[in-house]
Amino acid sequence: EKDLGADLESVLISKEEIDARLRELAAAIDAEYAGKDLLLVGVLKGAVMVMADLARALSTHVTMDWMAVSSYGAGTQSSGVVRILKDLDTDIQGRHVLIVEDIIDSGLTLSWLLSNLGSRQPASIRVCTLLRKPDAAKVDIDVEWVGFDIPNEFVVGYGLDYAEKYRNLPFVGTLAGHVYGG
Ligand code: PRP
Ligand code: MN
Ligand code: MG
Repeated sequence: EKDLGADLESVLISKEEIDARLRELAAAIDAEYAGKDLLLVGVLKGAVMVMADLARALSTHVTMDWMAVSSYGAGTQSSGVVRILKDLDTDIQGRHVLIVEDIIDSGLTLSWLLSNLGSRQPASIRVCTLLRKPDAAKVDIDVEWVGFDIPNEFVVGYGLDYAEKYRNLPFVGTLAGHVYGG
C-alpha cells in the first residue's frame, strides 16, 4: 500500500472508513430511488473514485454521465465563475439526477452546477458528496448525502488533488504545510 511519504501529514479518513461510509450512503440512495431510473452525474476529475465505488455499492441499476467544469480566476481558490469543459452526453429532462462529488469546499462549484443542471428540467436533482467543509462554505447548499464533514484543512487523496497529484491515494490525508507553503 502507498505510504504517507514526506508530503503528507496524516491520514484523515482511511480506506476502510471510506468503504464503510459509502456502503451506508449506497443503502440510503437505494432506498430513495427504488423503482426509479437514476442518472449519476460525476464531476471530473475529483469525483472519479467516489463515483466508481459508490456506483458499485448500489443495488439500483443506474446510468452514469460526467461533466468537467473549470472554476477559473486568480489563485487556487474557487471563484464561482464556472466554465463547462465537457458537458453531459445525456439529456436530463425528466430524469432523476444525482450529482456525485468528492468535496464541497466553498460550495461555489456545486451551486453553479445545481442551477445549470436544474434549468434543464430534470425530474429531480440531488447531491451526494464524500466530503464537506462546513467552515469553508460561502453559499448554503442543500446536500442530501454527505460522507464526512471535515475541518477546513488542505486534504488530498481518493480523487482529491494538489496540482493534479495525490488523486490515486486510497485514503484521504492532510497535506504537509511545506508542500503548499501553508
Ligand atoms: C474541486 C473539487 C470540487 C470543487 C469544490 O474540484 O473536486 O469539484 O473543487 O470546491 P468549491 O466547493 O470551493 O467550489 P477542482 O475544481 O479542483 O477540479 P478537479 O475535480 O479536477 O480537481
Ligand atoms: Mn472537482
Ligand atoms: Mg482539484
